[in-house]
Amino acid sequence: TPRVFSGIKPSGDLHLGNYLGAIRRFVPLQETHETIYCVVDMHAITVWQDPEDLKRWTYEIAAAYIAAGVDPAKSIIFNQSQVVEHAELSWIFNCVARMGWMARMTQFKDKAGENSEAVSLGLFAYPSLMAADILLYKATAVPVGDDQKQHLELTRDIAKKFNHDFKKQIKSLGHKGDFFPITDTLATGPAMRVKSLKDGAKKMSKSDASDLSTIYMMDDADLIAKKIKRATTDADALPSEAEGLVGRNEAENLVGIYSALSNRSVEDVLSEFGGQGWGVFKPALADLSVARLSPIAEEMKRLVADRGEMDRILRDGAERARAIAQPIMADVRQIVGFVR
Ligand code: TYM
Repeated sequence: TPRVFSGIKPSGDLHLGNYLGAIRRFVPLQETHETIYCVVDMHAITVWQDPEDLKRWTYEIAAAYIAAGVDPAKSIIFNQSQVVEHAELSWIFNCVARMGWMARMTQFKDKAGENSEAVSLGLFAYPSLMAADILLYKATAVPVGDDQKQHLELTRDIAKKFNHDFKKQIKSLGHKGDFFPITDTLATGPAMRVKSLKDGAKKMSKSDASDLSTIYMMDDADLIAKKIKRATTDADALPSEAEGLVGRNEAENLVGIYSALSNRSVEDVLSEFGGQGWGVFKPALADLSVARLSPIAEEMKRLVADRGEMDRILRDGAERARAIAQPIMADVRQIVGFVR
Protein backbone atom coordinates (compact mmCIF):
# COMPACT_ATOMS: atom_id res chain seq x y z
CA THR A 1 0.00 0.00 0.00
CA PRO A 2 1.21 3.50 -0.81
CA ARG A 3 2.19 5.61 2.17
CA VAL A 4 0.85 9.05 3.11
CA PHE A 5 2.64 11.56 5.32
CA SER A 6 1.38 14.95 6.41
CA GLY A 7 2.01 17.34 9.26
CA ILE A 8 0.80 20.50 10.94
CA LYS A 9 2.87 22.96 12.96
CA PRO A 10 1.86 23.56 16.60
CA SER A 11 2.39 27.29 16.31
CA GLY A 12 -1.12 28.63 16.74
CA ASP A 13 -4.79 27.74 16.97
CA LEU A 14 -6.09 25.54 14.19
CA HIS A 15 -8.35 27.27 11.68
CA LEU A 16 -10.73 26.44 8.88
CA GLY A 17 -7.89 26.53 6.31
CA ASN A 18 -6.02 23.80 8.20
CA TYR A 19 -9.21 21.78 8.40
CA LEU A 20 -10.22 22.06 4.75
CA GLY A 21 -6.73 22.05 3.22
CA ALA A 22 -5.39 19.21 5.35
CA ILE A 23 -7.18 17.50 8.28
CA ARG A 24 -10.49 16.82 6.53
CA ARG A 25 -8.60 15.03 3.76
CA PHE A 26 -6.58 12.86 6.15
CA VAL A 27 -9.63 10.78 7.02
CA PRO A 28 -10.62 9.05 3.73
CA LEU A 29 -6.96 8.30 2.91
CA GLN A 30 -6.96 5.83 5.81
CA GLU A 31 -9.01 3.46 3.65
CA THR A 32 -6.58 3.38 0.75
CA HIS A 33 -3.15 4.20 2.19
CA GLU A 34 -0.86 3.59 5.10
CA THR A 35 -1.23 6.95 6.83
CA ILE A 36 1.20 8.86 9.03
CA TYR A 37 0.02 12.13 10.56
CA CYS A 38 2.55 14.17 12.46
CA VAL A 39 2.53 17.21 14.72
CA VAL A 40 5.69 18.96 13.56
CA ASP A 41 6.94 20.53 16.78
CA MET A 42 10.49 20.86 15.45
CA HIS A 43 9.18 22.99 12.60
CA ALA A 44 7.21 25.14 15.03
CA ILE A 45 10.34 26.29 16.89
CA THR A 46 11.89 27.78 13.75
CA VAL A 47 10.19 30.89 15.07
CA TRP A 48 9.96 31.59 18.81
CA GLN A 49 7.36 29.50 20.64
CA ASP A 50 6.53 29.78 24.27
CA PRO A 51 7.23 26.24 25.56
CA GLU A 52 3.86 26.01 27.33
CA ASP A 53 2.01 27.08 24.19
CA LEU A 54 4.01 24.61 22.14
CA LYS A 55 2.86 21.76 24.37
CA ARG A 56 -0.76 22.90 24.40
CA TRP A 57 -0.88 23.23 20.61
CA THR A 58 0.85 19.88 20.16
CA TYR A 59 -1.91 18.15 22.12
CA GLU A 60 -4.57 20.23 20.41
CA ILE A 61 -3.47 19.26 16.91
CA ALA A 62 -3.19 15.59 17.75
CA ALA A 63 -6.67 15.84 19.29
CA ALA A 64 -8.00 17.56 16.17
CA TYR A 65 -6.76 14.72 13.97
CA ILE A 66 -8.61 12.21 16.10
CA ALA A 67 -11.73 14.34 16.58
CA ALA A 68 -11.99 14.80 12.81
CA GLY A 69 -11.93 11.04 12.26
CA VAL A 70 -8.31 9.91 12.12
CA ASP A 71 -8.22 6.60 13.96
CA PRO A 72 -5.06 6.19 16.08
CA ALA A 73 -5.32 2.43 15.67
CA LYS A 74 -5.25 2.68 11.87
CA SER A 75 -3.09 5.75 11.37
CA ILE A 76 0.18 6.65 13.02
CA ILE A 77 -0.24 9.87 15.02
CA PHE A 78 2.83 11.30 16.74
CA ASN A 79 4.87 14.41 17.33
CA GLN A 80 8.00 14.83 15.24
CA SER A 81 10.54 15.35 18.04
CA GLN A 82 9.84 11.89 19.46
CA VAL A 83 11.44 10.31 16.39
CA VAL A 84 14.98 11.71 16.31
CA GLU A 85 15.61 10.28 12.86
CA HIS A 86 13.78 13.34 11.45
CA ALA A 87 16.62 15.51 12.73
CA GLU A 88 19.28 13.09 11.53
CA LEU A 89 17.95 12.84 7.99
CA SER A 90 17.34 16.57 7.78
CA TRP A 91 21.03 17.17 8.53
CA ILE A 92 22.02 14.95 5.63
CA PHE A 93 19.51 16.81 3.44
CA ASN A 94 21.03 20.11 4.57
CA CYS A 95 24.17 18.85 2.89
CA VAL A 96 22.31 17.75 -0.26
CA ALA A 97 20.17 20.83 -0.78
CA ARG A 98 21.69 24.08 -2.04
CA MET A 99 21.51 27.51 -0.40
CA GLY A 100 19.97 28.89 -3.58
CA TRP A 101 17.08 26.41 -3.45
CA MET A 102 16.16 27.55 0.05
CA ALA A 103 16.58 31.22 -0.74
CA ARG A 104 13.91 30.90 -3.45
CA MET A 105 11.20 29.64 -1.09
CA THR A 106 8.37 32.16 -1.04
CA GLN A 107 7.31 31.13 2.48
CA PHE A 108 10.80 31.89 3.75
CA LYS A 109 10.81 35.24 2.00
CA ASP A 110 7.37 36.08 3.42
CA LYS A 111 8.30 35.10 6.96
CA ALA A 112 11.76 36.62 6.93
CA GLY A 113 10.46 39.87 5.43
CA GLU A 114 12.94 42.70 5.19
CA ASN A 115 15.14 41.42 7.95
CA SER A 116 16.31 38.02 6.72
CA GLU A 117 19.59 38.32 8.67
CA ALA A 118 17.74 38.18 11.97
CA VAL A 119 15.63 35.04 11.49
CA SER A 120 16.74 31.67 12.81
CA LEU A 121 18.95 29.39 10.78
CA GLY A 122 16.25 26.76 11.31
CA LEU A 123 13.73 28.86 9.42
CA PHE A 124 16.02 28.91 6.42
CA ALA A 125 16.54 25.14 6.55
CA TYR A 126 12.83 24.50 7.22
CA PRO A 127 12.09 22.82 3.85
CA SER A 128 14.95 20.39 4.28
CA LEU A 129 13.40 19.14 7.54
CA MET A 130 10.08 18.87 5.74
CA ALA A 131 11.69 16.75 3.02
CA ALA A 132 13.16 14.56 5.76
CA ASP A 133 9.69 14.12 7.34
CA ILE A 134 8.31 12.74 4.13
CA LEU A 135 11.27 10.78 2.80
CA LEU A 136 12.15 9.17 6.14
CA TYR A 137 9.08 7.00 5.47
CA LYS A 138 9.44 6.98 1.68
CA ALA A 139 5.94 8.46 1.59
CA THR A 140 4.64 9.05 -1.91
CA ALA A 141 1.49 11.07 -1.21
CA VAL A 142 1.27 14.26 0.83
CA PRO A 143 -2.12 15.88 1.44
CA VAL A 144 -1.50 19.59 2.03
CA GLY A 145 -2.99 22.93 1.09
CA ASP A 146 -1.87 24.93 -1.87
CA ASP A 147 0.68 26.96 0.11
CA GLN A 148 2.90 23.88 0.58
CA LYS A 149 3.34 23.09 -3.11
CA GLN A 150 6.70 24.79 -3.42
CA HIS A 151 8.03 22.91 -0.41
CA LEU A 152 6.99 19.65 -2.01
CA GLU A 153 8.76 20.55 -5.23
CA LEU A 154 11.86 21.06 -3.16
CA THR A 155 11.30 17.66 -1.55
CA ARG A 156 11.33 16.15 -5.03
CA ASP A 157 14.53 18.06 -5.89
CA ILE A 158 16.25 16.76 -2.76
CA ALA A 159 15.15 13.18 -3.49
CA LYS A 160 16.41 13.45 -7.07
CA LYS A 161 19.76 14.91 -6.08
CA PHE A 162 20.29 12.30 -3.36
CA ASN A 163 19.38 9.50 -5.79
CA HIS A 164 21.79 10.97 -8.31
CA ASP A 165 24.71 11.84 -6.01
CA PHE A 166 24.72 8.38 -4.40
CA LYS A 167 23.75 6.35 -7.45
CA LYS A 168 26.64 3.92 -7.11
CA GLN A 169 26.12 3.28 -3.40
CA ILE A 170 22.37 2.88 -3.84
CA LYS A 171 22.98 0.28 -6.51
CA SER A 172 25.55 -1.62 -4.51
CA LEU A 173 23.11 -1.75 -1.62
CA GLY A 174 20.92 -3.82 -3.93
CA HIS A 175 18.35 -1.16 -4.92
CA LYS A 176 17.24 -1.44 -8.52
CA GLY A 177 16.19 2.15 -9.17
CA ASP A 178 15.87 5.25 -7.02
CA PHE A 179 16.31 5.11 -3.27
CA PHE A 180 13.90 7.92 -2.43
CA PRO A 181 10.57 8.09 -4.28
CA ILE A 182 9.38 11.18 -6.09
CA THR A 183 6.48 12.40 -3.96
CA ASP A 184 3.08 13.51 -5.25
CA THR A 185 1.30 16.54 -3.91
CA LEU A 186 -2.32 15.83 -3.09
CA ALA A 187 -3.59 19.38 -3.45
CA THR A 188 -6.66 19.29 -5.62
CA GLY A 189 -10.32 19.99 -4.97
CA PRO A 190 -12.10 22.99 -3.50
CA ALA A 191 -10.69 25.07 -0.65
CA MET A 192 -7.03 24.18 -1.16
CA ARG A 193 -6.38 27.84 -0.42
CA VAL A 194 -8.96 29.22 1.97
CA LYS A 195 -8.82 33.02 1.99
CA SER A 196 -9.10 35.51 4.80
CA LEU A 197 -12.73 36.49 5.41
CA LYS A 198 -11.65 40.13 5.34
CA ASP A 199 -9.45 40.11 2.27
CA GLY A 200 -9.96 37.70 -0.61
CA ALA A 201 -6.39 38.27 -1.79
CA LYS A 202 -4.84 36.89 1.41
CA LYS A 203 -4.89 33.31 2.69
CA MET A 204 -6.56 32.51 5.98
CA SER A 205 -3.75 32.08 8.52
CA LYS A 206 -2.94 31.54 12.18
CA SER A 207 -1.35 34.93 12.41
CA ASP A 208 -3.83 37.37 10.91
CA ALA A 209 -4.09 40.68 12.72
CA SER A 210 -7.84 40.94 12.20
CA ASP A 211 -9.92 38.89 14.65
CA LEU A 212 -12.70 38.44 12.17
CA SER A 213 -10.65 37.19 9.25
CA THR A 214 -10.04 33.66 10.53
CA ILE A 215 -12.48 30.96 11.69
CA TYR A 216 -10.79 28.87 14.36
CA MET A 217 -11.77 25.27 14.90
CA MET A 218 -12.45 26.02 18.57
CA ASP A 219 -14.69 29.06 17.89
CA ASP A 220 -18.18 28.68 19.32
CA ALA A 221 -21.30 28.76 17.16
CA ASP A 222 -22.07 32.45 17.77
CA LEU A 223 -18.58 33.56 16.89
CA ILE A 224 -18.54 31.48 13.69
CA ALA A 225 -21.88 32.98 12.64
CA LYS A 226 -20.67 36.49 13.45
CA LYS A 227 -17.46 36.09 11.45
CA ILE A 228 -19.32 34.78 8.41
CA LYS A 229 -21.94 37.49 8.66
CA ARG A 230 -19.23 40.16 8.72
CA ALA A 231 -17.17 38.56 5.95
CA THR A 232 -16.29 40.96 3.16
CA THR A 233 -18.19 40.36 -0.10
CA ASP A 234 -19.17 42.27 -3.20
CA ALA A 235 -22.79 43.39 -3.58
CA ASP A 236 -23.82 41.09 -6.43
CA ALA A 237 -25.98 38.02 -6.18
CA LEU A 238 -24.39 34.59 -6.44
CA PRO A 239 -23.87 33.40 -10.01
CA SER A 240 -25.52 30.21 -11.20
CA GLU A 241 -22.36 28.88 -12.87
CA ALA A 242 -18.77 28.50 -11.63
CA GLU A 243 -17.43 30.85 -14.35
CA GLY A 244 -19.41 33.63 -12.72
CA LEU A 245 -17.02 33.45 -9.75
CA VAL A 246 -13.96 34.39 -11.78
CA GLY A 247 -12.57 37.69 -10.53
CA ARG A 248 -14.85 37.62 -7.48
CA ASN A 249 -12.29 36.43 -4.90
CA GLU A 250 -14.46 36.75 -1.82
CA ALA A 251 -17.47 35.08 -3.42
CA GLU A 252 -15.32 32.31 -4.79
CA ASN A 253 -13.83 31.74 -1.35
CA LEU A 254 -17.17 31.47 0.48
CA VAL A 255 -18.67 29.21 -2.17
CA GLY A 256 -15.51 27.07 -2.09
CA ILE A 257 -15.82 26.72 1.69
CA TYR A 258 -19.46 25.71 1.34
CA SER A 259 -18.57 23.19 -1.33
CA ALA A 260 -15.77 21.62 0.72
CA LEU A 261 -17.81 21.48 3.95
CA SER A 262 -20.81 19.94 2.22
CA ASN A 263 -18.83 17.58 0.00
CA ARG A 264 -20.69 18.97 -2.99
CA SER A 265 -19.22 20.39 -6.18
CA VAL A 266 -19.14 24.16 -6.67
CA GLU A 267 -21.56 23.72 -9.61
CA ASP A 268 -23.98 21.86 -7.42
CA VAL A 269 -23.82 24.52 -4.70
CA LEU A 270 -24.42 27.27 -7.27
CA SER A 271 -27.33 25.40 -8.77
CA GLU A 272 -28.97 25.78 -5.36
CA PHE A 273 -27.87 29.33 -4.48
CA GLY A 274 -27.41 30.98 -7.90
CA GLY A 275 -29.37 34.23 -8.08
CA GLN A 276 -29.62 34.50 -4.28
CA GLY A 277 -28.02 37.30 -2.29
CA TRP A 278 -25.60 37.11 0.63
CA GLY A 279 -28.48 37.49 3.05
CA VAL A 280 -29.51 33.97 2.10
CA PHE A 281 -26.13 32.38 1.49
CA LYS A 282 -24.26 33.59 4.58
CA PRO A 283 -26.69 32.15 7.15
CA ALA A 284 -26.68 28.85 5.25
CA LEU A 285 -22.88 28.83 5.29
CA ALA A 286 -22.82 29.70 8.99
CA ASP A 287 -25.19 26.82 9.81
CA LEU A 288 -23.17 24.39 7.77
CA SER A 289 -19.88 25.53 9.34
CA VAL A 290 -21.25 25.17 12.85
CA ALA A 291 -22.74 21.76 12.04
CA ARG A 292 -19.37 20.54 10.79
CA LEU A 293 -16.98 22.20 13.23
CA SER A 294 -18.82 22.15 16.56
CA PRO A 295 -18.82 18.37 17.10
CA ILE A 296 -15.10 18.31 16.27
CA ALA A 297 -14.39 21.12 18.74
CA GLU A 298 -16.36 19.31 21.46
CA GLU A 299 -14.42 16.11 20.91
CA MET A 300 -11.11 18.02 20.85
CA LYS A 301 -11.90 19.50 24.26
CA ARG A 302 -12.69 16.07 25.65
CA LEU A 303 -9.47 14.59 24.26
CA VAL A 304 -7.05 17.32 25.36
CA ALA A 305 -8.41 17.07 28.89
CA ASP A 306 -7.06 13.51 29.03
CA ARG A 307 -3.31 14.12 28.79
CA GLY A 308 -2.48 10.59 29.90
CA GLU A 309 -4.39 9.13 26.99
CA MET A 310 -2.94 11.68 24.54
CA ASP A 311 0.60 10.90 25.73
CA ARG A 312 -0.08 7.21 25.26
CA ILE A 313 -1.35 7.75 21.70
CA LEU A 314 1.64 9.93 20.75
CA ARG A 315 4.15 7.51 22.27
CA ASP A 316 2.57 4.56 20.54
CA GLY A 317 2.53 6.46 17.25
CA ALA A 318 6.18 7.43 17.66
CA GLU A 319 7.11 3.81 18.25
CA ARG A 320 5.33 2.67 15.12
CA ALA A 321 6.84 5.54 13.11
CA ARG A 322 10.31 4.61 14.33
CA ALA A 323 9.79 1.02 13.24
CA ILE A 324 9.32 2.24 9.66
CA ALA A 325 12.02 4.90 9.80
CA GLN A 326 14.86 2.91 11.34
CA PRO A 327 15.60 0.47 8.51
CA ILE A 328 15.36 3.29 5.96
CA MET A 329 17.74 5.40 8.04
CA ALA A 330 20.13 2.45 8.40
CA ASP A 331 20.29 2.26 4.60
CA VAL A 332 20.86 6.01 4.35
CA ARG A 333 23.81 5.86 6.75
CA GLN A 334 25.38 3.09 4.70
CA ILE A 335 24.76 4.93 1.44
CA VAL A 336 26.35 8.13 2.74
CA GLY A 337 29.33 6.24 4.17
CA PHE A 338 28.85 6.67 7.91
CA VAL A 339 30.78 4.00 9.79
CA ARG A 340 28.81 1.98 12.33
P1 TYM B 1 0.97 24.54 8.44
O1 TYM B 1 1.08 24.10 9.87
O2 TYM B 1 1.23 25.95 8.13
O3 TYM B 1 -0.45 24.18 7.88
C1 TYM B 1 -0.99 22.89 8.04
C2 TYM B 1 -1.79 22.49 6.84
O4 TYM B 1 -2.86 23.39 6.61
C3 TYM B 1 -2.81 23.86 5.27
N1 TYM B 1 -3.30 25.25 5.23
C4 TYM B 1 -4.26 25.68 4.41
N2 TYM B 1 -4.99 25.03 3.46
C5 TYM B 1 -5.91 25.75 2.80
N3 TYM B 1 -6.13 27.08 3.03
C6 TYM B 1 -5.42 27.77 3.96
N4 TYM B 1 -5.66 29.06 4.18
C7 TYM B 1 -4.43 27.06 4.70
N5 TYM B 1 -3.56 27.41 5.67
C8 TYM B 1 -2.88 26.29 5.98
C9 TYM B 1 -1.36 23.77 4.87
O5 TYM B 1 -1.21 23.74 3.48
C10 TYM B 1 -0.96 22.48 5.53
O6 TYM B 1 -1.34 21.37 4.75
N6 TYM B 1 5.23 23.02 6.37
C11 TYM B 1 3.93 22.57 6.82
C12 TYM B 1 4.00 21.47 7.85
C13 TYM B 1 4.81 20.28 7.47
C14 TYM B 1 4.46 19.26 6.56
C15 TYM B 1 5.52 18.33 6.58
C16 TYM B 1 3.33 19.04 5.75
C17 TYM B 1 6.03 19.96 7.98
N7 TYM B 1 6.45 18.79 7.44
C18 TYM B 1 5.51 17.18 5.79
C19 TYM B 1 3.33 17.89 4.96
C20 TYM B 1 4.40 16.99 4.98
C21 TYM B 1 3.21 23.74 7.42
O7 TYM B 1 3.78 24.69 7.85
O8 TYM B 1 1.88 23.58 7.53
